[in-house]
Amino acid sequence: MTIKTIDRSLAAITKQVATKLSQVKTLEDIYAVRSEFTGKTSVLTQLLQSLKDVPTEDRPTIGAKVNQAKKEIESIIERALSLMMNRESLLKDEVRDIDVSAPFHTNNSKIPDFTGIGSMHPLQYEINRMLDIFTTMGFTPFEGRELETDYYVFDSLNMPKEHPARQNWDTFRTEDNLIPTPHTSNMQVRVMRHLKAAPLRAVIYGRCSRNEAVDAVHGHTFYQIEGLYIDKGVSISNMIGTISAFVNAFFDKNVTSKIQPGYFPFVEPGIEYLGQCPFCDGKGCSSCKHTGWLELVGAGMIHPNVLREGGFDPAVYSGFAWGLGLDRMVMQRNGIQDIRSLFASDIRFLQSSL
Ligand code: PHE
Repeated sequence: MTIKTIDRSLAAITKQVATKLSQVKTLEDIYAVRSEFTGKTSVLTQLLQSLKDVPTEDRPTIGAKVNQAKKEIESIIERALSLMMNRESLLKDEVRDIDVSAPFHTNNSKIPDFTGIGSMHPLQYEINRMLDIFTTMGFTPFEGRELETDYYVFDSLNMPKEHPARQNWDTFRTEDNLIPTPHTSNMQVRVMRHLKAAPLRAVIYGRCSRNEAVDAVHGHTFYQIEGLYIDKGVSISNMIGTISAFVNAFFDKNVTSKIQPGYFPFVEPGIEYLGQCPFCDGKGCSSCKHTGWLELVGAGMIHPNVLREGGFDPAVYSGFAWGLGLDRMVMQRNGIQDIRSLFASDIRFLQSSL
């Protein structure tokens, strides 16, 4: 070994290391390369040991070169080790190329593929159907607001402060004194002011919250579909005709129905629209509390104070409004017994319900 040949042999060794590292597949492969090139019996160690045969004057230079090469090789191996450790720990989690928009099992083969092609949530499916029915009748859809002020939930609807009927809505309140809206009627005056002109036909869908104990037929969170129709000369029979047309289209059959008075401060007169119980055909069962009837829609002729609040002169215009609990109607149409199953995210229910 001379100063002339040492550079060439060190370069050859470094190249061999690089070639071997480019072929490794596991941590063990790298450990093998490490012991082959830097271990006790490695070429490098042998080179260091053979320094004693080198002429004394060349020893420091050659020794430094070998040590320098050893350091370089060790650091390449260290780098390869840390890359491989990262890769192996990623492989262990089965997280390779992550597609954040994919179903879970795509990124993790330990999770079985239970998603199939997926299905629409029953509530969303029925919201779409209801909106289809109303848009065919000429109504424009709007989405409701979930967080609302007292003004739109109550005052604008003919329920000034201290009005006893406010209690009927079991409202939640935020620390800022806003209300997670308890009905979609909060949108009535908003929509009137937005559309401004008659004929006004709007259908509003939205999520509502009430401070209610949860059981098979009550949820603290639920959906309503609200409608508004304002024009000159709108009558109660227009209202009943519209609601009947909707109910029949929704249930896909002629639903036997009846009307009884109902009290809502923002309509006058107010009605409740009841349909014959589809579970027992009116004979009486637990779903209809043995009355044979289900309360489907609350409705009425818009109160003059509300029309005025929305910018419509009650001397010229009249109109009707209705509101219905979407969840209950979805349950009735699909034979779902417990409202909680709509929110439990149980994939077996979601896939079998429609
Ligand atoms: N907002 C009423 C409710 O939550 C329903 C309703 C809407 C009644 C519009 C009349 C007119 O019960």
